[in-house]
Amino acid sequence: MSMLEWQDSWSVGNSSLDDDHKRLIGIIQKVGGRRTLSKDLGRVISELEDYAKYHFAREEKLMEEADIPGLQEHKDSHQAFVEWLDNIRQTFKSQQARRLLTDQVDDYLQDWLKNHILTTDMSYKGLI
Ligand code: FEO
Repeated sequence: MSMLEWQDSWSVGNSSLDDDHKRLIGIIQKVGGRRTLSKDLGRVISELEDYAKYHFAREEKLMEEADIPGLQEHKDSHQAFVEWLDNIRQTFKSQQARRLLTDQVDDYLQDWLKNHILTTDMSYKGLI
């Protein structure tokens, strides 16, 4: 896993949402950092799911207030991620599945950071 260090270019122009993104990145980094402690992965995924839901609600409210285009598509993207996390959390109840899936989960989360926080979220940069 590549450790992601926050860069100013990743800012969406809202310090509160940037703080949320930093925290999400921090939680996601725990997944790659805990490969040898697979029993903890379920807890980390739950932490990520809880914080993602909190962040998505705040972000969607700000986008709605600022009348940002593409809100429904953005909401759908959030919902798909929450559903994926929920599935993984259920799957991780199996010790064998945890061992098999950890690398794939780490790769998915790294891709999600790049494709959502560093790309999709940039649609509202400077507007909220
Ligand atoms: Fe910052 Fe759209 O999640």
